[in-house]
Amino acid sequence: MPGGVKADVRTYQMYVNGEWVDSKSNKTFPVYDPASEEVIAQVPDANADDVNRAVAAAKAAFEDGPWASTTAQERGRVLFRLAEKIRQNAAMLAELESRNTGKPIVEAEFDITDVATCFEYYGGLATKILGFVNPVPDNAVSLTLKEPIGVAGQIIPWNYPLLMAAWKLAPALAAGCTCVLKPAEQTPITALEMANWLAEVGLPPGVVNIITGFGETCGAPLVQHPDVNKIAFTGSAAVGKIIVKQAADTVKRVTLELGGKSPNIFFADADFEAAIDGALFGVFINQGEVCSAGSRILVQKTIYKKFVDAMTEKAKKIKLGAPLDRDTKMGPLVSKDQYERVRSYQEIGKKEAKLAFGGGRAEQFAKGYYVQPTIFYDVTNSARIAREEIFGPVATVIPFEDEKDAVKIANDSPYGLAAAVWTRDIFKAFRAVKSLRAGIVWVNHMQPTYVEAPWGGYKQSGFGRELGPWGIEEYLETKQVHINLNEAPIGWY
Ligand code: NAI
Ligand code: MG
Repeated sequence: MPGGVKADVRTYQMYVNGEWVDSKSNKTFPVYDPASEEVIAQVPDANADDVNRAVAAAKAAFEDGPWASTTAQERGRVLFRLAEKIRQNAAMLAELESRNTGKPIVEAEFDITDVATCFEYYGGLATKILGFVNPVPDNAVSLTLKEPIGVAGQIIPWNYPLLMAAWKLAPALAAGCTCVLKPAEQTPITALEMANWLAEVGLPPGVVNIITGFGETCGAPLVQHPDVNKIAFTGSAAVGKIIVKQAADTVKRVTLELGGKSPNIFFADADFEAAIDGALFGVFINQGEVCSAGSRILVQKTIYKKFVDAMTEKAKKIKLGAPLDRDTKMGPLVSKDQYERVRSYQEIGKKEAKLAFGGGRAEQFAKGYYVQPTIFYDVTNSARIAREEIFGPVATVIPFEDEKDAVKIANDSPYGLAAAVWTRDIFKAFRAVKSLRAGIVWVNHMQPTYVEAPWGGYKQSGFGRELGPWGIEEYLETKQVHINLNEAPIGWY
């Protein structure tokens, strides 16, 4: 953008019951570009009144609307058409996503492709929801039917805005649910852009409602609403715990994806060049704002010194820059809050461990929430920077002695979302795979994520699984049907 020219500030409405509406209070809040620190949009500030309106629309659409009688084939076709719209508008969506989150445009383009792929996958899966015939020991036919759970409340974070919306909406719609989606307050605009196509692709009013607001004033009433049957949440562990408590009163089904402190384990026999690349990619991709970030880098002592030096040399070459610049490999953090949180961990780390690289703001930028990619080493696993999720480009390198030691350190965490292990020894690799307490384990890679494979964590990283057939299961109820084939009376009394 030419210097001095302000970005257009677009005022959005939100999408409820097939209509574009303001919040009932008429209040709005600003959305920022984290590179320029300027406001790029205003969106409605929804509160409990707006939640009530959206949930009422979703409930009516589930119970009485045409969606209730839509066939699986038609639901599948709706999702294919939505995927097509995403692909046709990919450049616009990627640019908006990059501007709003600060992520490099090239990464945003991958995200948008994954959004379309996710809608396509669940479009196909809509017609593969199968029941069972249960082999009961009687003259009867016993069936298991799969039915949509009802109204799904979906609360998502800011690190992959439209992709997280797709991970939630696609399986819910394939299952036949209706949805109230609340994007993160930092990044609501790509979901609102997508809402432009929902009616055109064939979604009746009320099936998907997108409301914009803050956690406590908009997210919490959605969680508490008696007509919401299920909450799907991705975000911080702190909010996940609140959600479980708040959902208890109405006995909602809840799925949580709460991030982690994932170990990336390097044995001495790993391919060294691939290992250095994998360590950096695992922790610095998307500015480190990744739930599965390999933020604990465990390195075998015999290669430890060489490893830290090589990581540092390569980290120096990471190109920080404007999000829309195609050469940029790391942009600013998403918000002032996140910048301050990450900066504070950089300072904590300087007291707890040794600093190999980075450790501060990236001062070459006059504006924007840029921090230096940061590498701490000689970190003990009990340090705060090794236990708490930082959600920024901050690596903690921890030495280990042998296989047993590595697994012990890796599992010594309240979290268990992901883990990776690098070795050329297939025995060692598989022993680690079996010992690691994590929902996703990579061998000789870290981060590839596929809609076909399950995603979710052990321990305090949450419960439930997204993606693949596991993802749709979370939006289905199971109904047992018993059909008696004896025409005679029971004959008991
Ligand atoms: P957050 O957990 O507060 O926000 C995530 C979503 O939850 C947003 O849509 C927010 O509006 C909503 N929310 C917040 N409070 C709520 C409440 N009481 N009831 C219902 N919904 C609520 O995350 P935040 O504050 O943006 O980031 C803080 C930390 O959380 C990060 O530093 C990172 O460690 C972690 N995080 C993890 C993510 C993951 O992918 N697992 C994603 C985003 C953040
Ligand atoms: Mg928060």
